[in-house]
Amino acid sequence: MLEPAAADAGHFTYRPGQFLTFNIPTERESGAARCYSLSSSPLIGERLKVTVKRTADGYGSNWICDHLSEGDEIEALRPSGTFTPRTLDADFLLFAGGSGITPLMSILKSALHAGRGHVTLVYANRDEQSVIFRDELLALEKQYPRRLHVVHLLESVQGIPRAETLTELARPYTGRDVFVCGPTPFMDAVTGGVAALGVPDGRVRCERFLSLADDPFADSAVVLEAGGEAGTVEVELDGETTTLAWPEGNKLLDVLLDAGLDAPFSCREGKCSACACVLLEGEVEMAHNEVLDKDDIADGIVLACQSMPRSERVRVTYDQ
Ligand code: FES
Repeated sequence: MLEPAAADAGHFTYRPGQFLTFNIPTERESGAARCYSLSSSPLIGERLKVTVKRTADGYGSNWICDHLSEGDEIEALRPSGTFTPRTLDADFLLFAGGSGITPLMSILKSALHAGRGHVTLVYANRDEQSVIFRDELLALEKQYPRRLHVVHLLESVQGIPRAETLTELARPYTGRDVFVCGPTPFMDAVTGGVAALGVPDGRVRCERFLSLADDPFADSAVVLEAGGEAGTVEVELDGETTTLAWPEGNKLLDVLLDAGLDAPFSCREGKCSACACVLLEGEVEMAHNEVLDKDDIADGIVLACQSMPRSERVRVTYDQ
């Protein structure tokens, strides 16, 4: 359970399915930023909660399990991520593999509480002991017997879930919004299966846990005096409009942070979409994008951490 410092509380509102990025202490120069999905729901008065399962070689999970206890402080970036439903008033088909359940738990609780639709969760685990949230799910099934259906798959009983099994489980629910989180082979099997059943790409969302190469907590290396042409960027953020010089060769996020604006970000590597904003005017080019799909780009969404100016004047907004 986490409690933001009072002065930062306004920065820690979140949507179901989002994650936090923690600054894990390390001697390494590149830092050890780690992202963990929130398993709490923002809609039922729960405290912010991340669920961290120790993994054998996981530096972050071992540090958290060994060092963090009640009353400690840890630095975190504001919640981010796009693995979140556009509406909670829909029917959902959720696929979780192991600790991939965490963001899905947040979505599931939020949809049951605030929406009116049905939720089916297919939850794959090694064995019964490794089922995270088992009791909480049982209680929710009792509370919402007509709206929640949980299908457990246990490797110890049925073996590793086969692609055909996952596809058959999805077949009755092809009209639903599909959310998938778990190991890569599991996610590939589910996405392949639902695609074969005719579920359009736009209705399927996957969450891949990030591994960050660089330190998003480090100060940005902005070279604002870098010469070259300087255009302008007008940015709407938190209800305020600011106009800044945007010298060529600099990324938009760095320019905004350098000017003291509280622009959101997490990975700074084009992998998470925490820095996404909407281009209202002008052109930018993204150096790298692993997270926006064709529809996002058609909607004018760009990643500030990867955007360089390609026109003299650019306008963006974070407020849409
Ligand atoms: S901060 Fe993660 S994509 Fe830009």
